[in-house]
Amino acid sequence: MEADFEDLIAGFLDDGIGISEHFLSDGLCEHLASNLLLLHEDDELKPAGTGNDSLLKHSQLIRKDRIYWLDKEHNDPYENLFFEKMDAFVAYLNATCYANIQSYEFHYSLYEAGDFYVKHLDQFKDNASRQYSMISYLNPDWVGKDGGELLVYQTDANQMIAPTQGKTVFFKSSVLEHEVLVTNGRRMSIAGWLKK
Ligand code: OGA
Ligand code: MN
Repeated sequence: MEADFEDLIAGFLDDGIGISEHFLSDGLCEHLASNLLLLHEDDELKPAGTGNDSLLKHSQLIRKDRIYWLDKEHNDPYENLFFEKMDAFVAYLNATCYANIQSYEFHYSLYEAGDFYVKHLDQFKDNASRQYSMISYLNPDWVGKDGGELLVYQTDANQMIAPTQGKTVFFKSSVLEHEVLVTNGRRMSIAGWLKK
């Protein structure tokens, strides 16, 4: 467990973004992906907004994914395993980096072919509680022609990150500009924020 925590933290400290290739196991990703697809069949995924509360906008010109918020009260066994892993990561981050994270929020996200999310920062203008962004990908057999890369903007060299199953990325919400390039197939993830 600690090795993947260290991958995320060391990558973040070196480079502004930590990447762990197999942060979530294949088995867990498969269960989470099937949860997401069932929610989609039941029409539970809603168009994602941008901004916060009164500033919430639903602009299909900015982002086209559909989302569903995870909630411990749903008591889903696989989501509970996901939360356990995140709880362990937050405890490690707080202990080793004095990060002072108090809470988090995560949602499933579904991008259909043609969907994207333009360049943005994750921290809201009117609320600085989001400290770190974490995204875990749930796409088995993802290949280059599928597109949908996470493009992160960095001063030296931008990076394109393929959303392959189990991979998790970790970066500072107020600092790192990023976008989701147009996906050519269905792209599934859990995106969230560690908050103070
Ligand atoms: C987001 C986001 C990136 C990704 O949800 O804010 O930037 O790779 N997601 O899904
Ligand atoms: Mn983002």
